[in-house]
Amino acid sequence: MVKAVLGVIGGSGIYDLPGLREVRWQKVESPWGEPSDALCFGTLGDLPMVFLPRHGRGHRIPPGEINYRANIDALKRAGVTDVVSLSACGSLRADLAPGMFVLVDQYIDRTVARAKSFFGTGCVAHVAFGDPVSPRLLDRLEAAARAEAIALHRGGTYLAMEGPQFSTLAESRLYREWGCAVIGMTNMPEAKLAREAELCYASVAMVTDYDSWHEDHGTVDVAKILAVMHANADSAKRLVARLAADFPAEHEPCPIGSDTALTYAIITAPEA
Ligand code: ADE
Repeated sequence: MVKAVLGVIGGSGIYDLPGLREVRWQKVESPWGEPSDALCFGTLGDLPMVFLPRHGRGHRIPPGEINYRANIDALKRAGVTDVVSLSACGSLRADLAPGMFVLVDQYIDRTVARAKSFFGTGCVAHVAFGDPVSPRLLDRLEAAARAEAIALHRGGTYLAMEGPQFSTLAESRLYREWGCAVIGMTNMPEAKLAREAELCYASVAMVTDYDSWHEDHGTVDVAKILAVMHANADSAKRLVARLAADFPAEHEPCPIGSDTALTYAIITAPEA
């Protein structure tokens, strides 16, 4: 049996996981460089958990400078089987109000200056990514949110932008025309790398603002985002605690094969 280990990547405003027992912050070395911080190992109920603050404790690292490869590699080395990504996002839809949580099921990657793969010259691989999110993890997150009475919307496309500046009005309008639900700066290439690392991955996008398009809400700024984010962070921690309480001890095979993604992906001949 493969033991389930739940990894949680915390975004803006989430730098620890209260309620974790037997907590141990430990640096994990990665050949891909420095992860954002030491990993926080612990247990919630009986479930082993590993937490990583994406921007580092104290929020030191901007989205474009996060070493996403080292982060995902460190979680994999720590034995993590399933990753829940928590992040602040802007809303591109009137019905997704600040304070709501969106369980993303698709992405559009508009980031341009980030290392996006563990593979390259010498070992070429192309993982399937039509379904970027593990549906069983989404089911569990949805059930946990309902049990905690957290306002949640399941489904929607996350536009990953490079940043660090927020979008122009024209960009924001364009992404709405593309049918995107939310916008953020961090879920790519994280989701792609999780798939290459054969980790189940799901993203909880926590709405903090209406991005630039909404005529009644003015421009986006960090002060507004942080005010909402603090309330969201409390719900996120309750969500994770409930998810962990109901999580199976044994890793459940992913119905879309996230955990076996490399089986038919590597094209380089072994002796090449
Ligand atoms: N994170 C929170 N709000 C955001 C927005 N409007 N655009 C990009 N990233 C965000």
